[in-house]
Amino acid sequence: MVLIRPADTADVPSITQISNALLDTTTYEWTETKHTIDERGRWLEEQRAAGRPVTIAEDDGRVVGWGTYGDFRDAARWPGYRFTVEHSIHVAQSHWGHGVGRALVVDLAEHARREGRRVMVAGIDATNHRSIAFHAKLGFAEVARMPGVGEKWGQRLDLVLMQRDLAEPLGGDPCP
Ligand SMILES: CC(C)(COP(=O)(O)OP(=O)(O)OC[C@H]1O[C@@H](n2cnc3c(N)ncnc32)[C@H](O)[C@@H]1OP(=O)(O)O)[C@@H](O)C(=O)NCCC(=O)NCCS
Repeated sequence: MVLIRPADTADVPSITQISNALLDTTTYEWTETKHTIDERGRWLEEQRAAGRPVTIAEDDGRVVGWGTYGDFRDAARWPGYRFTVEHSIHVAQSHWGHGVGRALVVDLAEHARREGRRVMVAGIDATNHRSIAFHAKLGFAEVARMPGVGEKWGQRLDLVLMQRDLAEPLGGDPCP
């Protein structure tokens, strides 16, 4: 049974390791620079200071995934965006297909709903078919494909935007 809980400073090395795992072999994350523990530590503090959730999925005492969300676009400058969040989740490959990603997204969606947010958005690299299928299973609908807006290793990349209304049940499950 996976436990979802807020991230702690002690989780930073695991968050870093999970975040880096696919950087060298996929275009799922649009950076060629590995994350460091220092940088992830500062990021966690910034997330906390800004009131953005960072959650951990723990299995038998081991960190096997993490998730977060923030404003979709700059809601401080353009307050009309304040009801919409963009999330990010990462699950250790050893635990794919065991419901960890679902547990993280359900928890983030509940957190966002409690905050009065209305819409959750995922921005996904178009080659990441697993994440696209995963989000579709959880009730996210593809709303846009943006050709060539990214680049990694000199290769132009497409972005898939998927969104879900937080008032609607997640993937067929009743809302709490
Ligand atoms: C995408 C990712 C988060 C999915 O996490 P996961 O823990 O493997 O997914 P789950 O086991 O919770 O799956 C939830 C549902 O999605 C479905 N699903 C997951 N992967 C799927 C796939 N490749 N094809 C079809 N359905 C899939 C599952 O069948 C499951 O449905 P069910 O609950 O009805 O059985 C995980 O693979 C991952 O971290 N990938 C690398 C990082 C990444 O891509 N992050 C997202 C960036 S946008």
